[in-house]
Amino acid sequence: MPIEQTLILIKPDGMRRQLTGLTIDRLDAAGLELVAAKMVSVSTELAEKHYAEHVGKPFYPNLIKYIRGEFHAFPDHRVLAMVYRGEGCIAKVREVAGATNPEQAKPGTIRGSFGRVTTAGQFENVLHASANAADAAREVALWFKTAEILP
Ligand code: RTP
Ligand code: MG
Repeated sequence: MPIEQTLILIKPDGMRRQLTGLTIDRLDAAGLELVAAKMVSVSTELAEKHYAEHVGKPFYPNLIKYIRGEFHAFPDHRVLAMVYRGEGCIAKVREVAGATNPEQAKPGTIRGSFGRVTTAGQFENVLHASANAADAAREVALWFKTAEILP
């Protein structure tokens, strides 16, 4: 399996519910290496670039609000952005994360254990993980400068 890098974001629900340590533990336990991490205040511009593939979908407007923490009573735009590296990293992280819809995510995955679907139908699914190699390359470059990532 090739050595890959992938982008992980602890989304605002994960931040507020203090699920960052648990997520890092699980990714470390999967044998993956943390090679970059920082707190980022997510601007509308960054959110729109990150989710460009979803423009026009019914859930898109709420998705932009969600990644910026705007569903919280006291909105906080910060997320924890991380890059992990390892063999088959992209698929391994997606496995640890679980399915996009928390109600369909396997028990024991992060989304299966801690995600929820709001009454408005929004998936609050704790984290983002790049879906494939092309997305990972684009997303890592969008969120991190080369110098911020361990060589
Ligand atoms: P992510 O990008 O956040 O890692 O999640 P994903 O690949 O598993 O899912 P994706 O299809 O890329 O969707 C991105 C995010 O949009 C929200 N979503 N809501 N209500 C809905 O039908 C719906 N579908 C997607 C979720 O927050 C999802 O993580
Ligand atoms: Mg995705």
